[in-house]
Amino acid sequence: MSATTATGSAPLRLSVIGTGYLGATHAACMAELGFEVIGVDVDQAKVDRLQSGRVPFFEPELEEVLQRNLQAGRLRFTTSFAEAGAGADVHFICVGTPQTPGANAADLSQVRGSVDALAPHLQPGALVVGKSTVPVGTADELASRLAAAAGPDVEVAWNPEFLREGFAVADTLRPDRLVIGVRSARAEQILREVYQPLTDQGVPLLVMDFATAELVKVAANSFLATKISFINAMAEVCEAAGADVTLLAQAIGYDPRIGSRFLAAGLGFGGGCLPKDIRAFMARAGELGAEEALTFLREVDSINLRRRAHTVDLARAALGGSLGGRTVTVLGAAFKPDSDDVRDSPALDVAATLHNSGARVVVHDPKALENAARVYPNLIYQQDLIAALSDAELVLHLTEWREYRDLDPATIPGSGTRHCIDGRNTLDPQRWRAAGWTYRALGRPLA
Ligand code: UDX
Repeated sequence: MSATTATGSAPLRLSVIGTGYLGATHAACMAELGFEVIGVDVDQAKVDRLQSGRVPFFEPELEEVLQRNLQAGRLRFTTSFAEAGAGADVHFICVGTPQTPGANAADLSQVRGSVDALAPHLQPGALVVGKSTVPVGTADELASRLAAAAGPDVEVAWNPEFLREGFAVADTLRPDRLVIGVRSARAEQILREVYQPLTDQGVPLLVMDFATAELVKVAANSFLATKISFINAMAEVCEAAGADVTLLAQAIGYDPRIGSRFLAAGLGFGGGCLPKDIRAFMARAGELGAEEALTFLREVDSINLRRRAHTVDLARAALGGSLGGRTVTVLGAAFKPDSDDVRDSPALDVAATLHNSGARVVVHDPKALENAARVYPNLIYQQDLIAALSDAELVLHLTEWREYRDLDPATIPGSGTRHCIDGRNTLDPQRWRAAGWTYRALGRPLA
């Protein structure tokens, strides 16, 4: 695929500000589409790493795409906003919008800071495109900010990103849809040109106003979070009634109006997006006087957090009522499989609570141990799966990596009564019970 110009002028050059999961992927994938791309980050170490062809986090396929495009000379990384301003026509803002400590609202300091840093270096006619997830109204605010700092020639657009970690490259090169919020035909034309290689393949592109584009992203994440909390609420009822939530999910999922995806009951959602996005959405709705419309998201959040507390209760109960001095192995540290991201990881949250309750907690994860140790230095980390499981009195399966599903429990050394709690409902109960373990899963009957 190669970049083409609908206008017949020189090919568009792109910059991507922020090189985390979103920005690094977007920069590499836009280069893969044929554009000349500059990735910008304030972190020199990250820039050096990317420039040498190494991705600073685990994301399948990304390193190959990065290396291929560095070698082709289409992609480079810098800490210089001046270089980005001079070397690109379209600038994608991909910095983080984390939850503000002690509040529900999003912290927009990185978004504002990156726009302010870029503004003095922008060329006339430049387009600044927000991709970060932001409270509705942010694009409008940034447009005024940019107009004041860089003049009327520079424009803003909004283009929310829906990629999932673990599938970031595939989701960027083959998205379900593209959404652009624009205020002028020119901005629309530029973004149509950027995404032409994708729209040529049939990817739908929806054009709308700023506010709707911003809301599409938080609405989508709220819906996904609600779907997960819905099935986890059903899991609570199933446990009380002696029913099986996995069969229930399968049965309701056949209805195409419901759909079977995102109905995996278990420990619930975590990560750098869903939890903080629903909280920021509630906070923003409150500011807008529409708080009541989103009170259900408070319940979505509490159902989700309740799963973590319930898992700790099950662990305590499995060990006869006390965790003090007991050896517990936690399988999984990443917030989901195929990622090394531990931001708001349900697995690590449970592991830390078990540790704080006096248990000796050993954590295994195929990719995320380094990141986990940075956040929770007091847990015991073991890279070898069998070593991590040996002598465990209780195993908690909290992130559903494939290798845990493939593991034969009969090969785990140890003796005495041993317990397994499946927090993700992907282990085979028969196999674990046959190997001498007690097996308990969230939302399913005891035996
Ligand atoms: C999410 C959105 O899916 C994506 O569109 C958006 O751009 C960013 O936020 P991501 O955070 O990468 O992506 O993870 P996702 O695959 O959505 O999973 C989120 C969490 O929900 C994980 O902790 C996962 O374990 C959990 N989950 C997911 C469930 O508990 N049950 C499910 O059925 C699905």
